[in-house]
Amino acid sequence: MFREIDKVLISRERIAQRVREMALQIASDMRAELEREGASIHDEGRLVIVPILTGSIVFVADLIRELPMKVSLDLVAVSSYPGESVRSKGAHLESEMPRNLGDKHVLVLDDILDSGRTMHMVKGLIAKQNPASLRFGVLLDKAERREADIQADYVGFDIPDEFVVGYGLDYNGYYRNHPEIAVLKPEVLGSADDTGQG
Ligand code: IMP
Ligand code: MG
Repeated sequence: MFREIDKVLISRERIAQRVREMALQIASDMRAELEREGASIHDEGRLVIVPILTGSIVFVADLIRELPMKVSLDLVAVSSYPGESVRSKGAHLESEMPRNLGDKHVLVLDDILDSGRTMHMVKGLIAKQNPASLRFGVLLDKAERREADIQADYVGFDIPDEFVVGYGLDYNGYYRNHPEIAVLKPEVLGSADDTGQG
């Protein structure tokens, strides 16, 4: 779709199938939480999904349509890759935190777990509100790059330490609408640096 794409790492079909599998698992775990407290999938106010903007939007849009239960969405925006950078500069909260997560079953969703600083920060802020349960789901996991002490409960694909775009993930704000997980040509990333300029 974009001429800057070098190779496809994960095809649309594989993503779609894996997202459906993840949704089945998540739905079954949520159902179990509800049963434990004598509630049902028709009850309101128990399940909250917290997507981390902006990278999670495509993943979340596909995943929630596979969840046959009453969930509400409460967004949080975090940035860590300003401009033309391919290394995390640390997580910055760019929005207000959702409130009223106390006593709710909360599922935080993001596109990718990299250094883990984004999830770690969001986890701390939500945990303070004392949710009934708190879980994390990501489409992609670059486990070898982890710096913060965190892991996801639901992982779509483990991937190597390569900068990827598509299906919501961007480079410098673009390629989020590419429908597969892909790697850009090296010359496109050539101007990117690790120093925080950008
Ligand atoms: P972390 O805080 O280092 O775990 O970074 C997580 C955030 O960085 C994710 O929410 C993504 O938005 C972004 N990110 C990490 N790796 C990549 C990548 O390979 N491509 C695009 N964005 C990425
Ligand atoms: Mg992100």
